Amino acid sequence: MINEENLKKIFPRDLKEIPSKHLPPSIIQKKYLTNGQLIESKSSNNFQVFSPIFINDQKVLLGEHPMLSEHEVLGVLENAKNAWKKGCSEWATTTTNERIKCVETFVKEMQKQKEIVVRTLMWEICKSYPDAEKEFDRTIIYIKDTIQALKDLDRISSRFVIEQNIIGQIRRSPLGIVLCMGPFNYPLNETFTTLIPALIMGNVVIFKPAKFGVLLWNPLLEAFAKSFPPGVINVVYGDGGEVIAPLMKSGFIDVLAFIGSGRVADILKKQHPFPHRLRSILGLEAKNTAIVLDDADLQLTIDELLLGTLSYNGQRCTAVKIIFLQKNIAKKFIPQFQDKVSQMKIAMPWEDGAKITPLPEDGKCQYLKSLVEDACNKGADLLFGGKSFNSIFMPTIVSNINSGTRLWKEEQFGPIIPIVIFDEIETPINYIIESSYGQQASIFSSDQLMISKLIDNLVNQVSRVNINSQCQRSPDSFPFTGRKDSAEGTLSVSDALRVFSIRTLVAAKENTINKEILSNITYNHQSKFLNTDFIF
Ligand code: G3H
Repeated sequence: MINEENLKKIFPRDLKEIPSKHLPPSIIQKKYLTNGQLIESKSSNNFQVFSPIFINDQKVLLGEHPMLSEHEVLGVLENAKNAWKKGCSEWATTTTNERIKCVETFVKEMQKQKEIVVRTLMWEICKSYPDAEKEFDRTIIYIKDTIQALKDLDRISSRFVIEQNIIGQIRRSPLGIVLCMGPFNYPLNETFTTLIPALIMGNVVIFKPAKFGVLLWNPLLEAFAKSFPPGVINVVYGDGGEVIAPLMKSGFIDVLAFIGSGRVADILKKQHPFPHRLRSILGLEAKNTAIVLDDADLQLTIDELLLGTLSYNGQRCTAVKIIFLQKNIAKKFIPQFQDKVSQMKIAMPWEDGAKITPLPEDGKCQYLKSLVEDACNKGADLLFGGKSFNSIFMPTIVSNINSGTRLWKEEQFGPIIPIVIFDEIETPINYIIESSYGQQASIFSSDQLMISKLIDNLVNQVSRVNINSQCQRSPDSFPFTGRKDSAEGTLSVSDALRVFSIRTLVAAKENTINKEILSNITYNHQSKFLNTDFIF
């Protein structure tokens, strides 16, 4: 039985206990990327980065990164403005093919950095080593798929259409300067799902890494500098108030791509002086719900919900964050599920089979404990877990959650599994209808009619209804979005190309002079926009 004494033993006591290929990185970074160069920050307050892993009760120091001053960040903005030149720069007006070449160079450079990026990611956010590797590989695939999707998009646009005696060529143009901020749980992958489409569509990017998962970008700064023209991609570091507020207040940010909390997104949007001009692509909180009906396949449901609730300690925006069990299945489900949860291996992220690992956020264990205490004080039952040591929080099952508890509404973003037992199907349906969030839901049942009814009830509440499957974002070619407070804009390999660009066309009345002009321009390759080149 795991208790606090056992939890203590999960942390190494000495670096010697760690296999050499998994030793912590040591990255002392003083520079940031702007105008195609790595520039040393003049600000003296470098930020020390500690891992959530403790050795001998001390968090392991992984390195440091600069904290830019407002003056420095405004300099970065000037470089970005120069790289965009109000839409007239070389980058803004170049061909799709040229931009694809830059991204292809970047992928090659990025692949060379895999070992250090994956190891740093593992130490900074404690994602298990295989999952950290998976995140890197998934990102490479995402970038390659984005290139293919853009080629497809360009091929469709590389022709004229004639409607009502008007000849037109319809393409997509970039939007301007994109401020890009990713989340700590998928610091690499989710950031790249906005950053790469933004760049490849011809925008200019200022990127600030999330609060954790910062040092892992250090090896990629050179790769960016080698691959893109000066000023097209800039990477800034620092406190949000110090570095992000001046950017938003300047009014020169055209697109906000942000994955994080709704509270912060609201603050950022309000700082912009021209809210109607700002486009936002937001991935925010979710409280994805699983509904398990009496006739569900028990084993399949347990396996899917273990993955759905506890993968990466439940720190996925797509995680199942509350389970509604119908009364009869609850009796069988709970003991078997609890048995499986108790077998989840709590370990350091490099250990084979590690499932539950330290949590990166300071004070997170106290926060999770307060959620459990609140629920228990209001009549819920703690069935398993609830204990923590340093940054490890045991996987925890709390049953009989009621609408007065914080776990009913709050996104726990951690390894707590709240359970509600219900009689009438209206109970979970009403829960989802009343929720502030609307990302995904999962239905577990073998009754086609009931599944059909639930699908039709839920598709106007959430953006993805999963049948006998956990909630998830992948495959990345599927649209990823949410209703209500969960998201703004849709991401997927192909949708992201659309959200970071705007439909633009050249049109001419179909007469002899116009036909000759259009033919000559395309024949002589005189325009980069108006052309019929086919990208292979
Ligand atoms: O936190 C959100 C991630 O994009 C989750 O992706 O559901 O495919 O693991 P996933």
